[in-house]
Amino acid sequence: MSPASAPRRALLLENIHPDAVAGLEKNGYAVETVARALDEDELIARIAGVDLLGIRSKTTVTDAVLAAAPDLLAVGAFCIGTNQIDLASASERGVAVFNAPFSNTRSVVELVIAEIIALTRRLVDKNTGMHAGVWDKSAEGSHEVRGRRLGIIGYGNIGSQLSVLAENLGMSVFFYDTADKLALGNARRCSSMEELLATVDVVTLHVDGRPGNSGLFGEAEFARMRPGSLFLNLSRGFVVDHQALRSHIESGHLAGAAIDVFPNEPRARGDEFVSELRGLPNVIMTPHIGGSTEEAQQDIGQFVAGKLHDFVSTGNTSLSVNLPPVSLTSQDGGHRLTHLHRNTPGVLATINSVLADHEVNIEGQLLGTRGDLGYVITDIGSQYTSDVIGQLRDLPTTVRLRLLS
Ligand SMILES: NC(=O)c1ccc[n+]([C@@H]2O[C@H](COP(=O)([O-])OP(=O)(O)OC[C@H]3O[C@@H](n4cnc5c(N)ncnc54)[C@H](O)[C@@H]3O)[C@@H](O)[C@H]2O)c1
Repeated sequence: MSPASAPRRALLLENIHPDAVAGLEKNGYAVETVARALDEDELIARIAGVDLLGIRSKTTVTDAVLAAAPDLLAVGAFCIGTNQIDLASASERGVAVFNAPFSNTRSVVELVIAEIIALTRRLVDKNTGMHAGVWDKSAEGSHEVRGRRLGIIGYGNIGSQLSVLAENLGMSVFFYDTADKLALGNARRCSSMEELLATVDVVTLHVDGRPGNSGLFGEAEFARMRPGSLFLNLSRGFVVDHQALRSHIESGHLAGAAIDVFPNEPRARGDEFVSELRGLPNVIMTPHIGGSTEEAQQDIGQFVAGKLHDFVSTGNTSLSVNLPPVSLTSQDGGHRLTHLHRNTPGVLATINSVLADHEVNIEGQLLGTRGDLGYVITDIGSQYTSDVIGQLRDLPTTVRLRLLS
């Protein structure tokens, strides 16, 4: 950690939104920014003495990076995914990892709404025709979305918010989710994907990326969709068989599609985009931009910076992607200990007996576990001695102990 009087240090890479910098500086951090990703060696060279690390998707936080950062308290992934971080190593070292799981939800939902209307009005074909000099005022095949039936597969953050907005446009909403979900507004739950496919005019996928969802939607599912219906996928590329989608568009069974995510996406800007869906009529393709808006970037910056500071100042881990989720309201004027430990029987009793042996009274306490780890936040009213801290730190189960005040 930085010397007692020095401010805590935050290193933010990859052009993270200025609101994150401002938020951390306002809370007293010395923030260094780097506009690009750093490779492993560069990061190792810079990370000693850093308390908070902020990255986006292009910096890899390896075990070697974490080993070179003994003071590191938390890593902020200013994005959604956290595959670029060695989460097991971070947990082993008591480093909390946070991301922004729903900062771009609204952006995705707005794009879905725009695409449903665009496809229902055949705007893609009209626009392509106009650029080719074709003036076609025909209403054939163009519809209002009002009164049409929308089927949402995956009723999580995105699916449920889409449900609300679509209903406000006058659509009838049906959904299917493998988990029990509260139906919002007048939305109706379907008991199977087959039931949903047989019912609706527009099918949109918003499932998560669990391995079991690979190939979720293929020839059999497209065949079950009602003739003339529309298909959208803004969730994960590997969920859909694009060859099957192509044949159902070409046969005229489906009236159109909007696809934002692909099984094989180009790695870098400028690389060729290869897909079975190129050149099809009434098919909108976008380069994985469902969540890419300036508003989402700003929200991610504010949200993750807030989570990092909250963890440093209170020890609270709610929404951490790797540590046990624990959130205890702070009491004025007291002291707080946080103890990350191996999740074995009796740890809490041992901690409390150390405190009791030193006549330290517990004023608030909360324990959470996640896999092999347990995490307990303890508020105490009286001052603690270095002896108490030494004994807690030396427990064989201790992974990391922090004293917050
Ligand atoms: N296109 C983009 O830029 C973009 C941006 C953000 C999120 N996403 C993706 O959108 C998807 C949804 O995001 P979210 O935040 O709503 O996720 P979420 O975890 O809140 O919701 C996913 C829902 O899908 C359900 N589900 C999972 N598998 C299912 C299945 N086989 N059948 C039915 N329901 C199933 C889950 O129970 C859950 O309710 C994710 O895959 C996410 O990666 C894409």
